[in-house]
Amino acid sequence: MAEKVIFDTDPGQDDAVAILAALGSPAEIEVLGIVTVAGNIPIHHTTRNALRLVELAGRTEVPVIQGCDRPLVRRLVTAEHVHGQTGLDGSDLPEPSIAARPGHGVDFIVETVRAHEAGTISLLALGPLTNVALALQKAPDIAGRLKRIVLMGGAYFEVGNITPAAEFNIYVDPEAAAMVVASGVPLVMLPLDVTHAMRSTKPRIAAFAGLGNRAGEAVAAMLSFSEVYDLRKYGWDGAPLHDPCVTAYVLAPHLFEGRHINVEIETASALTRGMTVADYWGVTDRAPNAFYVRSGDADAFFALLTERIATLP
Ligand code: RIB
Ligand code: CA
Repeated sequence: MAEKVIFDTDPGQDDAVAILAALGSPAEIEVLGIVTVAGNIPIHHTTRNALRLVELAGRTEVPVIQGCDRPLVRRLVTAEHVHGQTGLDGSDLPEPSIAARPGHGVDFIVETVRAHEAGTISLLALGPLTNVALALQKAPDIAGRLKRIVLMGGAYFEVGNITPAAEFNIYVDPEAAAMVVASGVPLVMLPLDVTHAMRSTKPRIAAFAGLGNRAGEAVAAMLSFSEVYDLRKYGWDGAPLHDPCVTAYVLAPHLFEGRHINVEIETASALTRGMTVADYWGVTDRAPNAFYVRSGDADAFFALLTERIATLP
């Protein structure tokens, strides 16, 4: 039985790979909708990009619904320096010929969760958690109805990527992240601690390009653009591939290791805003609230992504 999921996302080249891999895995993942959020780039771009992706995948029956255009209380911080002005720079995907579904993404989350049997819908969060937090605030009953939230965000051993203390998704809307970790919904966090090991080396990007389909070509082109910033920053043999860790965890959790721990979010400090304070060694009596993934099998991860992208047009 495929897991029913709603993506919440700010595409973003790495979001794109996560979404495409899920759309290429219909036996395991049923994508009920894609809700967009402002993050990597402003909301009009993330929505346009989500529409471009469902067209690329030949899956225009999957609705795209626009969500929040800014964080709960803070000014929006974006990441064009990584993703380019459009967020999918590197690819030459055409303008979407379809439109987003009318309505707000937060309402789509609430209505969809309420319309399905409790415990059957998961949220796959790939960007700032604004929509997720607002849905939980607007409809507290969905916390007990959600199967789980699998999110890319946070950092502990690898520290921050947008500041020395914080990972981007959490940094952009720390108040939203704090609401999510306090919600009681079963959480799986895929932080920089694992995504930094998932590096898009040249052979791995070449494997996407070598698939001979439009999706593989687009993925290789996108990653070849978005890698530039991280290669310069880290000096590694490949840029970390973040968001597809969420899809891969849903498809193949055995590829990952982690532990159930307490994670709290810093929201008060200007210096460490958005830091994920992960009690990995159990030094506090704070109750565990997340399965925090620490490591994964990079070769198997890329093989899985390539295998699923290969099934697309
Ligand atoms: O820190 C990495 C995260 O920030 C990823 O979700 C990437 O898409 C950006 O949103
Ligand atoms: Ca993202």
